[in-house]
Amino acid sequence: MLVKSIKLNNFRNYTNYQLEFDPHLNIIIGKNGVGKTNILEAIIVISNVKSFRTLNDVDLIKKQTEYSRIVLNTQSDEYKLVLNKNGKSLFINNNSIKKTSEFIGKVNAVIFKPGDLELFVTSPSDRRRIIDVELSKISDIYIDSLTKYKKLLADKNNLLKQTNKDEILLSLINNSMVEPIKNIIRIRQEFFEEINKNISNIYQLLSNTNSKIEIIYKKCSEVDKVEEEIERSKDKDNYYQYATFGPHHDDYYFKIDNFEINTYASQGQKRMVLIAFKFALVEYIKQITKKTPIILLDDILSELDKNNQLRLLNILPKDSQTIITNTDINNLNIVDKYKLIEIKEEQNA
Ligand SMILES: Nc1ncnc2c1ncn2[C@@H]1O[C@H](COP(=O)(O)OP(=O)(O)OP(=O)(O)O)[C@@H](O)[C@H]1O
Ligand SMILES: [Mg+2]
Repeated sequence: MLVKSIKLNNFRNYTNYQLEFDPHLNIIIGKNGVGKTNILEAIIVISNVKSFRTLNDVDLIKKQTEYSRIVLNTQSDEYKLVLNKNGKSLFINNNSIKKTSEFIGKVNAVIFKPGDLELFVTSPSDRRRIIDVELSKISDIYIDSLTKYKKLLADKNNLLKQTNKDEILLSLINNSMVEPIKNIIRIRQEFFEEINKNISNIYQLLSNTNSKIEIIYKKCSEVDKVEEEIERSKDKDNYYQYATFGPHHDDYYFKIDNFEINTYASQGQKRMVLIAFKFALVEYIKQITKKTPIILLDDILSELDKNNQLRLLNILPKDSQTIITNTDINNLNIVDKYKLIEIKEEQNA
C-alpha cells in the first residue's frame, strides 16, 4: 500500500495544500503547531473514516469554512472524503460509496503517537474503540457484526427501561444478538492470539531485553457459551434496566514478564510495549490483507535515544511506506534515504 499524494482543502489549518510522498521513507519537519500531525490525521481519516483526535468530524473543517475535502491518491486509485456540517461523503475514483464498510481500510494506515500511552489508563470503551477501528478495517464480518450488535444493544437497552416491556420483542432481540456477539468475541480472540505470537519478539528487538509481553483478553463469554450467558443475565438486566452481558463490556490489559504493566513497568517500558503492540498490529494487518499498511510515526522518534531510534527504524517492514514527523531533522538518527518535507507557516495562509 502506497500513498502517492494527498490534497487537502479546508482541512484543519490547510486551505489548499498538496503533497507528494516517497514510496519508502518520508520525513515531515516543521515548528510546533505548523500542521504536521494534521497531515497524518488526514491519511488516517481516509483509512479509518474517523479521526484519532476528535469524535466530532466538524473539528476537521477549517474554521470559518463550510466544507473540508481530502483527496488521497495511491498507485491505482483515488480516495476522496468530503465533509460538511451535515455529514460526510465518500468516493473511490469519483464513484460515490454509500456503505462506510466499502471504503474503510481500503487505504490502511497505522499511526504511532505519543498519546498512545493513554491506552493503559483510559476507559475500557476507549480501549475497545482502538481495536474495533483496526478490526473493522480488515474484517467485513467484524464491522457488520459490530454495527448490528450496537443497533440491537440500543434497542435492548430502550426496551429494558420500559415498565410494560414486550417480552416477545426482547427475546427476539436476544436471539438476533447471538450471532453478532459470537463473531465479535471470536474475531477479537483470534486477533489477540495472533498479536501474542509476535509481540514479545518485537519488544525484545526494540528494547534489547528478554522480556515477555502478553495481552490478556477479558472477554464476556466463551464463544460457545453466549446463549447460556444471555439467558443467565436476564434477571440482572431487568434489575439494572440495561444489558449487563455482552462484548460491550470486554476489555484487555498488558503484562510484562507476568506483571501487570500499569503497576509494574516504567514509562519507557510502557512506551516500548505500545510500539511493539503497533508493530504486531502491522504484522497482523499484513497477514490478513496481504498488504503492508502505511506506517505513520508522529513525534515518536524524538522521544527515543539514538540507539532505540535505530532499533525502531530497523524493525520497519522492508516494503513499508513510512511517514515520520518531527520538529527538527537534526535530532533524528536516520541512515536510509528519505524525502524531506518541510512545512512552513506561510504555505498554509
Ligand atoms: N479546524 C481547524 N481550523 C483551523 N485551524 C485548525 C483547526 N484544527 C486545528 N487547527 C490548527 O492546526 C494546528 C495544529 O496542527 P498540528 O497538530 O498538525 O501541529 P504539529 O505541526 O503537529 O505541531 P506539534 O509539533 O506541536 O505536534 C494548530 O495551529 C491549530 O490551531
Ligand atoms: Mg504534532
